Amino acid sequence: MLLIFHLFSPSDHQSLETPVTEFPPLRVKDIQVLETMDQENVYRFVSAIDTQIMASSGVIWNSYRDLEQAGLGLAHQKYLSIPIFPIGPLHKCSPASSGSLSSQACQRSISWLDKQTPKSVVYISFGSVIAINKDDFLEIAWGVANSRIPFLWVVRPGLVSGAEWVEPLPKGFLEMLDGRGCIVKWAPQQQVLAHPAVGGFWTHSGWNSTLESICEGVPMICQPYLPDQMVNARYVSHFWRVGLHSEWKLERMEIERAIRRVMVEAEGQEMRARIMHLKEKVDFCLRKGGSSHQSLERLIDHILSF
Ligand SMILES: *[C@@H]1O[C@H](CO)[C@@H](O)[C@H](O)[C@H]1NC(C)=O
Repeated sequence: MLLIFHLFSPSDHQSLETPVTEFPPLRVKDIQVLETMDQENVYRFVSAIDTQIMASSGVIWNSYRDLEQAGLGLAHQKYLSIPIFPIGPLHKCSPASSGSLSSQACQRSISWLDKQTPKSVVYISFGSVIAINKDDFLEIAWGVANSRIPFLWVVRPGLVSGAEWVEPLPKGFLEMLDGRGCIVKWAPQQQVLAHPAVGGFWTHSGWNSTLESICEGVPMICQPYLPDQMVNARYVSHFWRVGLHSEWKLERMEIERAIRRVMVEAEGQEMRARIMHLKEKVDFCLRKGGSSHQSLERLIDHILSF
């Protein structure tokens, strides 16, 4: 995001579809939101990060070389004198603490998944920050139900504006699904994505979720809300080509269609093949001799040299 802001200079007469030449998969509209936000604050925010980077003795990058070669190249160019260490994916280096893994909420999603057939379930989670309105919530619920694809949906208390939890759902909604859906308040995401029953991930496209999905070889449906998520979604759909970018109206028929495209159609199979290839590269880069492993060794040497 930071690099995009520095290297891209929009001009007034560009159309929204104009490609951003510095970042091939992006169009002006994928980053246009930067233009519409409070400019002074955005500028202050970006300069603060920039100052921090320039003052630091190194940058730890939560990614791996094969995934973001071009971005890393640009970062090296911009911060010539600052060493950059792509040692990610970080969650693979330091797994989530096991303390929370035994909780009941956690057991519930995993034991439900245990009863489903391989690659049959779409996992839905919009992360820990955003909220959606009641109408969108209901469209999602009906779209998912009508797709007839089994689903595990994380609805955190507070996700639906003005509701405590899932009260906006019509009475008997879950019963009508006859076991095909499971709604939970929280799920152990990395374990869920690694579960053999999960075949797709409908996500808000935060960076952690995107990386976690890639690491487990799960194709995505991207529903971004914030500027960095828009960029991630565009890379997922048009650069790595391992998911769909929801540029549709949030409407039940469109949702049903998107889920079926990723979960059962040939298009989804192709995405799965591509993301499995990225997953293999993750496994390789973390091993001795792999790029992230080497970066980690460089980082250790760097720290010891002070
Ligand atoms: C993203 O993952 C990193 C590494 O696993 C973690 O330290 C960080 O807190 C996560 N960020 C969010 C927003 O969950």
